[in-house]
Amino acid sequence: MGRVKTPQTATSAQLAYRWGLLVLCSAVWAGALRPQSAAGQDTPDYFRQNCMNCHTIGGGRLTGPDLKDVTQRQTREWLAEFLLNPKAVLDSGDPYAQKIFEESRRVPMPLSPGMTQERADNLLDLIEAESKLPESQFKGLQISTAPFTSTDVQAGRDIFVGGQRLTGGGTACIACHSMHDMTALGGGQLGPDLTNVYDRLKGRKSLSAWLVAPGTETMQPIFKNHPLTADEIHSLVAYFENAAPHRPADPTAGRVTFLLLGLGGATALMFAFDGLWKWRFRGVRRPMVDAAQKRGA
Ligand code: HEC
Ligand code: HEC
Repeated sequence: MGRVKTPQTATSAQLAYRWGLLVLCSAVWAGALRPQSAAGQDTPDYFRQNCMNCHTIGGGRLTGPDLKDVTQRQTREWLAEFLLNPKAVLDSGDPYAQKIFEESRRVPMPLSPGMTQERADNLLDLIEAESKLPESQFKGLQISTAPFTSTDVQAGRDIFVGGQRLTGGGTACIACHSMHDMTALGGGQLGPDLTNVYDRLKGRKSLSAWLVAPGTETMQPIFKNHPLTADEIHSLVAYFENAAPHRPADPTAGRVTFLLLGLGGATALMFAFDGLWKWRFRGVRRPMVDAAQKRGA
């Protein structure tokens, strides 16, 4: 008799199975988009990730001045102090700090994450060495200034939605971002809507420079080893410029639909597996239960 599965044990096994499945699904869902943290950077990597979106070495000014030969313009002591606390040096009324601040259209230099005296020294060594080279690895991408065409805009949209694979192997933008011309469900929700990013990041030059080396928490680990090419940046920025006058898709509508669809999907999955489970056992259990009942009667 002990070998007959009663409906009671089948139900709890079924429940455990269902919950396990749900937990697994959620874990996969949440884990898929979680970025890896950037650990163990050496100085060139640190420079690439924290400085290159505003500075080149020998490639001209971006948001901040070209750093080529900066150690000949100022003393190492001054520069290290500035790196360690740019705001304090500027606020002290230091005339050189005032001058480069004015020349940068009054955009302040931010304090970089994890800056220490040692890091500042290493960075200044690196800048000094790179300044001596005929062409520094931090010369920066030469961003095109060719006028945007409607073909560029279309190509940019293609890249955004993943129709055109990224040359460097990065993830398509649509996985995490939405745009005005996508249905609410089309774009991902992890990152902000990018409809108005052209103005938000201050136009062509500065947005292009930003995309050369995205420096924010989620973007950095994705694109650090999968950089966008100059052509891809040209097309994407054309698409963003074209989108600038539009209003973003309604985010709340998108989120509710997304959530409902997610819930609907999970429920459908549970029913499907439930059905499968029942079907698997019916063949074995039914005859045994029937036999037991017959014997009992
Ligand atoms: C958000 C943009 C931005 C980032 C990121 C940034 N800087 Fe700057 N940096 C500036 C600006 C702008 C100035 C000009 C001074 C000012 O406006 O405060 C400047 C000035 C400097 C100067 C002095 C330049 C001169 O001509 O004397 C040095 C050196 C410097 N930055 C190094 C760095 C290093 C190294 C990093 C990375 C750890 C870095 N900066 C990150 C914007 C930035
Ligand atoms: C895995 C998700 C993910 C992918 C893929 C992704 N992004 Fe992002 N992006 C983010 C997140 C999250 C932010 C918000 C800042 C942060 O945490 O990095 C962001 C921020 C940005 C910003 C700055 C927005 C602002 O208002 O400051 C731009 C520009 C941007 N992304 C462009 C792109 C482009 C272009 C692509 C495709 C080539 C792309 N992103 C792909 C997640 C992603």
